[in-house]
Amino acid sequence: MDFLSTLFIFLAGCIALLIIGVFIHDKFQSSNAVKRNYPVLAWLRPISERLGEFFRRYISFGDREAQPFSRATRKWVYEAADGNANIQGFGTKINFRDRIYYFKNAIFPINENEAELSPSIVLGPNCAFPYQPESFFNISAMSYGSLSAPAIEALSHGAEMAKCWLNTGEGGLAPHHLKGNPDIVFEIGTAKFGIRDTDGNFDPGAFITIAENPAVKMFELKLSQGAKPGKGGILPACKVTAEIAEIRKIEEGKDAVSPNRHKEIANIPELLDFINLLRDMSGKPVGFKTAIGNINWLEDLCHEINKRGNDTAPDFITIDGAEGGTGASPVTLMDNSAMSIFDALPAAVKILERHHLKKRMPIIASGKLITAGDVAWAIASGADFVVSARGFMFSIGCIMAMKCHTDKCPSGVATHDKKLQKALKPQEKKEKVKNYVVQIQKEVETIAHTCGVKHARLLNSNHLEILK
Ligand SMILES: Cc1cc2nc3c(=O)[nH]c(=O)nc-3n(C[C@H](O)[C@H](O)[C@H](O)COP(=O)(O)O)c2cc1C
Repeated sequence: MDFLSTLFIFLAGCIALLIIGVFIHDKFQSSNAVKRNYPVLAWLRPISERLGEFFRRYISFGDREAQPFSRATRKWVYEAADGNANIQGFGTKINFRDRIYYFKNAIFPINENEAELSPSIVLGPNCAFPYQPESFFNISAMSYGSLSAPAIEALSHGAEMAKCWLNTGEGGLAPHHLKGNPDIVFEIGTAKFGIRDTDGNFDPGAFITIAENPAVKMFELKLSQGAKPGKGGILPACKVTAEIAEIRKIEEGKDAVSPNRHKEIANIPELLDFINLLRDMSGKPVGFKTAIGNINWLEDLCHEINKRGNDTAPDFITIDGAEGGTGASPVTLMDNSAMSIFDALPAAVKILERHHLKKRMPIIASGKLITAGDVAWAIASGADFVVSARGFMFSIGCIMAMKCHTDKCPSGVATHDKKLQKALKPQEKKEKVKNYVVQIQKEVETIAHTCGVKHARLLNSNHLEILK
């Protein structure tokens, strides 16, 4: 017998043994009824479910079908990040019956030479250190922990190049955030990571140290986020490395679960008290982030501010739609809680305007606002700034593998596995972050010009037709 025949018989024997082994295992186990009834064959079902997920994304789903982001939407961001204008021939591929809004183009649009730069807005005008961001499109909260070190570094350098802010997310300030020296928004989550003592209580000394860092421009107090309204942050144990544990003052290799609520804040007066405490201590603007369920609390907040005086107001409100992303969240909450940004933003704007507080409390909007059209929708609907998380993840190479919670992200964006991180080179990706911001700004301005106004901040609800 020659070598090949021997090898063939050996491999066939191994396969036969494996099948017999699986058959015996399936027949005599008691946890899975289908495997017991159909030993070996029953394995085809989970395997095809897995493969089906992969093939559907790339082959069977149409360009505009996949969730949370269709291939067409992802492609828009990839092209923008490559510095390409999204130009296409023949005509739109969208089904017009699916549109939820359109912009009312002016009969006499603005020519390029008549256009003006969008003016910036001052946040916290009464603070010792007010903040005047240059860009209306910025990087939303994503912690070092949920994202990898090279991803945070790429965002940091890119943010500096694009002159937009980088929000730390609730995991505290890591050296990686500061690599590019961008404007930093420090997020204070319910676990107070980065500004807590070893017992998990707010540590005023640690807060002052962060506040004294000149890169930190403002503070965002996180009440909740759209993907897990009313539930604290979750960083699965597999992502809690020694460095992350050290920054957060938690135990390495154990789930980091934040409380559902700040222990100091159980009602509106306490929310204002804590915001004012942080602002007095830091001299920097302080606002809060929330997803909106029942919006009536915003009426109560406005009444309380008008009672206490304009100075006591939060310096901004970040409204995150239910369609917002997350590093890890229970599906039940993701699917069933809170308002979409398409309902929450107009409702909040109406209330702030009625109480004459809209100017005092600029609105930052988020929730799948990752293309120029949706960013322009938000600005026309009353948002003063738009932030995105997943748009920026796409810009640095995320392929929507949906594995952020497993530490097995294949693009290196959301994993601490050094082998997987190797593919993500911050020095290359920083350009993509910058390009993405620039392209969004450019195309939002283009929409403004087609609507007959000289810059994006002049867009308002009169320029929008809402269809659904
Ligand atoms: C990987 C990842 C991590 C996130 N971490 C935080 C966080 O630490 N704090 C927070 O307030 N929101 C967090 N978010 C939510 C985003 O900041 C944002 O509000 C939401 O994803 C909506 O923006 P998007 O639709 O553009 O992604 C995270 C989102 C993602 C995708």
